[in-house]
Amino acid sequence: MCHLRQFICFILLAFALYTSLQAEVQAQENLSLTTRPTSPFSIALETLQNQIQYTFQDVELLRRALTHASYSGENNRALSVLGEKVIEGSVSLQLLSKDIDISPKDLNRVIMDLSSNVVTSCVADGGRLGLQKIIRVSRKTNSSAPAVVCGAFRAMFGAIAIDKSSLDSAGKVFLTIHGKGMEKAMAM
Ligand SMILES: *[C@@H]1O[C@H](CO)[C@@H](O)[C@H](O)[C@H]1NC(C)=O
Ligand SMILES: *[C@@H]1O[C@H](CO)[C@@H](O)[C@H](O)[C@H]1NC(C)=O
Repeated sequence: MCHLRQFICFILLAFALYTSLQAEVQAQENLSLTTRPTSPFSIALETLQNQIQYTFQDVELLRRALTHASYSGENNRALSVLGEKVIEGSVSLQLLSKDIDISPKDLNRVIMDLSSNVVTSCVADGGRLGLQKIIRVSRKTNSSAPAVVCGAFRAMFGAIAIDKSSLDSAGKVFLTIHGKGMEKAMAM
């Protein structure tokens, strides 16, 4: 009899311990749900920021950069125009700093390559970052289409320029990403 009571006591205690542990686990899960991004899009944006080694003060700008016009009125079109200027400006600055005598023809050729060259273009850079998997588009839109990938890639630098209020900061992030892409392409 005595043993049986002790046994029941033990079972009850174990059960109580178990439920309190469960509650704690649940509370921790709830906490992580509120502090961490949960949607696949938000998680992808976190990963992207790690990849480009730039953390947005206002991540809403990056959301917009990765939103195509087919998906929402709040899209990346204007950011993409700014981003293109950032890219062209930073590349021109880099080339002219290295060689002040570069011909306008050569400079323009490099700038043209940024849109059309298979290895050095915005499609290649954007594809390496996996933007086609992140960008939000309508169902009918092919997110791998060059114009979509390039638009998002350029818009990222427009977004950084606004986030930092600095064209120069955005240009530096571009040169780092683009340079890494070139290294990879050369190693292939
Ligand atoms: C965790 O969240 C769920 C549902 O959101 C709620 O039912 C539960 O009470 C919460 N648990 C704790 C310990 O806050
Ligand atoms: C989407 O675009 C890519 C790149 O142009 C192409 O390779 C692919 O076949 C297209 N997919 C569809 C479903 O049209």
